[in-house]
Amino acid sequence: MTVTKTLICVVGARPNFMKIAPIVRALKAKATKLNLVLIHTGQHYDQTMKAQFFDQLGIPEPDKDLEVGAGSLSVQTAEIMKRFEPEVDYYKPDAVLVVGDVNSTIACALVSAQKKIRVVHVEAGLRSRDRTMPEEINRVLTDQLSDRLYTTEKLAEDNLAAEGVCRDKVVFAGNVMIDTLRYNLAQAKHPSELLADNYSIIEKAGHYSLWTLHRPSNVDNPEILQKLLTFIKEAADKIPVVFPVHPRTQKNIQKFKLSSFLEHPQIITLSPVGYLEMLGLMNNARLVLTDSGGIQEETTALGIPCLTLRENTERPITISEGTNTIVGSDITLIRKELDQILQTGGKAGRVPTLWDGHAAERIADDLLAWL
Ligand code: UD1
Repeated sequence: MTVTKTLICVVGARPNFMKIAPIVRALKAKATKLNLVLIHTGQHYDQTMKAQFFDQLGIPEPDKDLEVGAGSLSVQTAEIMKRFEPEVDYYKPDAVLVVGDVNSTIACALVSAQKKIRVVHVEAGLRSRDRTMPEEINRVLTDQLSDRLYTTEKLAEDNLAAEGVCRDKVVFAGNVMIDTLRYNLAQAKHPSELLADNYSIIEKAGHYSLWTLHRPSNVDNPEILQKLLTFIKEAADKIPVVFPVHPRTQKNIQKFKLSSFLEHPQIITLSPVGYLEMLGLMNNARLVLTDSGGIQEETTALGIPCLTLRENTERPITISEGTNTIVGSDITLIRKELDQILQTGGKAGRVPTLWDGHAAERIADDLLAWL
C-alpha cells in the first residue's frame, strides 16, 4: 500500500472481542502505513464483559468508547448510530470493518453505508433463518450493506448468493474466532485456578458439565427459564455443573425469584468469566450446554461435545462436521442426549476447513490489496 488508508474497526459486545483481536494484530503486522482506528461502541461495558477481554486478548485501547450501554434493541441500535456518525465524519475512513451479528455490527454498517463509506463484514453469510432472533436480522442487513464479505464456512457463500450478493465480493477466509482460540490455548487457565475451593467438587466427581444461557428466548420468559434451571438441577445429580451466569440471565433469575433453582451441592455458579478462564473451562469439560453461537464453534475446534439449547443454528458446520447437536429447550431430548454423552462420550467431529489459526492473516492480505 503506497497511500496511507484509514480503516475503522468496530467492536461492541463480548463475542466481538475474540474476532477483532487477530484482525487488528494481522493488520498491524502487515501494514505499518495503515491508519487503523478502533472504536468500541460500549454495548458491553462491565469489567467482566469488556475490560478483561481487552487485557487478555491484547486488544489495543480503543481510540474512542461511545459508551452507549444498555437499552432496547431499537434504542441501543439508534444510540450507536447517533454516536458513531461523528466518528466517521472525523476520521473519514476508506472503509469500516464490522464483525459478527450484534447490534453494534448493523448500527455501524448502516451509518457507513449511508455515508457512502465501504463496509467490510467478517463472519458474513451465516443464516439460522430464524428472524425472531435479532442477530439474524443484523446478519442479513449487514451483508446487504457490505462491499467485502469474509466467510467462515462454504455454505455461507451460497446463502449470500441466494440473497443476491455478488460472489465477487465474497472471500472464504476461515474463522477468526478460532485464530484467537489457537493463539491463546496454551495460556488457558485451568479450572482449578478459577474455581479455587469449589474445584474439589469436580475433582471428586472426575468430570463436569459447562453451561451458558443468555438468549432472550431462553432467559426472558419465566416459565422457560424455570424449566431450564430445573433441568440444570436434575443434571447436577449426574455430573457437576459449572455455570457462568450472563448479566441478562442474572437479572432475570433475580426478577423471577428463581435463585433457589440453582441451589445444589454440585452446581457452581460464577460471574461472567474472562476469555482465558472460559477457554480452560471449555477445554476441560466433559460436555458443554449452551445457547451461544461462538461456543458452538469453539467446542467444535476443541473436540468437546456441545448440546445447543436453541431450535436452530446459523453455524451448521458445527453439526455436520463438528461436535455440536441441536436440542432446543425440549427437556426430554436434552436429557436423552446428555445421558448418551455421559455413557458414550458423544460425537467425535473434525475441525472444519480453514479453521486453522490463520484466517485473520488471509483477511489482512485480501483487505489491504482491496483497499
Ligand atoms: C448481546 C448480543 C448477542 C450476544 C451477546 C453476548 C445483540 C442483539 N445481542 O446480547 O448477540 O450473543 O451480547 O453477550 O447485539 N449487561 C450488563 N453488563 C454488560 C452488558 C450487558 O449488565 O456489560 C446487561 C444489561 O442489563 C443489558 C443486558 O445485560 O440489558 C443484555 O445486554 P445486551 O447487550 O442488550 O444484550 P445481550 O443479551 O448481552
